[in-house]
Amino acid sequence: MPTTAAVTAPVEHVVEQIENAGPLDPVVKAVRKAVNATLRPRALRDGLHGVWLGHPLHPMLTDIPIGAWSAAAILDVVPGTGPAASTLIAVGCASAVPTAVTGLADWAQLHPPQQRVGLVHAAANLVGLSLYTSSLAARLAGKPVRGRLLGFAGLGAVMAGGYLGGHLAFRQSAGANHNADVLDLYPSGWQDLGAFDDLPDGKPTKRTVEGVDLLVVRRGQQIDVLADKCSHLSGPLSDGEFTSEGGHGCVTCPWHGSTFRLSDGAVVHGPATSPQQRFDTRIVNGRVEAKLPGS
Ligand code: FES
Repeated sequence: MPTTAAVTAPVEHVVEQIENAGPLDPVVKAVRKAVNATLRPRALRDGLHGVWLGHPLHPMLTDIPIGAWSAAAILDVVPGTGPAASTLIAVGCASAVPTAVTGLADWAQLHPPQQRVGLVHAAANLVGLSLYTSSLAARLAGKPVRGRLLGFAGLGAVMAGGYLGGHLAFRQSAGANHNADVLDLYPSGWQDLGAFDDLPDGKPTKRTVEGVDLLVVRRGQQIDVLADKCSHLSGPLSDGEFTSEGGHGCVTCPWHGSTFRLSDGAVVHGPATSPQQRFDTRIVNGRVEAKLPGS
């Protein structure tokens, strides 16, 4: 009997090849350009990323088509359930469209290896959607056997796409919160960040405490400190721009433009959906100190 390693290694090898498949890049570039041109309004992009939800919207929406199509596959082996299976396939096809749009919005703001995997993930799901659309057409045309076979083929394509989606989320950390580890790494209690007078006014600055990088912004006597590693994909916020949104001081990440409110780390604009870790601050004898809230 083959071992687990023997079974999974070839799959991992294939995915690794996709991650490094430079020839996919011209396609990635063309699709990204089209996505960015289509999803130009920032409010639309923020909505699709899930800024309002505090989590990426795409993984939640995938439950609907995958659930509907999986249930249809079960009904397809139960006699007398053809109409119910057709209904589920129609629901899956209709819900796949908005699901794909949210995925494309996220995908357009990823790193190249993630975008290569994401491109193949999208292609597999597109094949799945085409097969399910043909399956539905066959069922409506009175060809149930053909409809079932196309449906099973569609489920296979969608499962392959799902494997790559899982790789993107869990191996390549797309959509994960990249500043969650700060809570574990930052020492408890107040920590010295240096002299107040050394901080430039209105300019993002980096300080490091026990290996944890911090973004420090001084505005007059006000000091705001956030984790420096952007929650989206670890971009350095201290290299970003100080901006103002709705009267609030903000910082904009130099990598993909996520914008965070300095006072509390809230996400103002995506693609990030997780807030930046905020720190309490104080000035003691002309020196700035910061600690995690509650520590
Ligand atoms: S790393 Fe992507 S917006 Fe900051």
